[in-house]
Amino acid sequence: MNKAIRTITIACLGAPLFLMAQSSNVTLPQDKGPDKINISAYPAEQQKGYKVFTDKCSKCHTIARPINTTMTAAEWSRYVKRMMHKPNSGISDAQGKTIYEFLAYDQENRKDKNPSAFSKSLSDEEIEKLKAQQH
Ligand code: HEC
Repeated sequence: MNKAIRTITIACLGAPLFLMAQSSNVTLPQDKGPDKINISAYPAEQQKGYKVFTDKCSKCHTIARPINTTMTAAEWSRYVKRMMHKPNSGISDAQGKTIYEFLAYDQENRKDKNPSAFSKSLSDEEIEKLKAQQH
């Protein structure tokens, strides 16, 4: 095979696999909850933040996942960084900060008022267990 054609073929076959590797390949309990937040009473800044959040945090899994997960603000800070550092997350430092501020506001004003309606974040071990059951 011509070298250029071979390179192109490998690139075309490889790209979807490469993109797939980024996505979460497991369904978590949080994924099955609502995939929207009523932000009509949120401050203008958080309404803008919601857009960045829904745009950036839905790339590899459902947006329902973070919408239905409850954590402390400190955990959200760590979690947003963890998601930002995944390969090809496409989230800049400034966007990460905006998203964190939205999540911290939403945690305090929505989730903390009704904690039993949301799922606690799962440990890596719990996620691995679900993966094993689902595959
Ligand atoms: C590059 C892909 C990618 C992007 C972008 C991404 N995530 Fe994730 N996320 C994952 C994967 C993969 C998992 C499954 C757990 C794991 O393997 O780390 C996950 C899991 C989660 C969980 C479940 C935590 C738990 O333990 O129950 C939450 C919450 C979450 N992500 C929030 C976010 C937020 C908020 C954003 C936006 C800042 C985001 N994700 C963006 C890939 C991504």
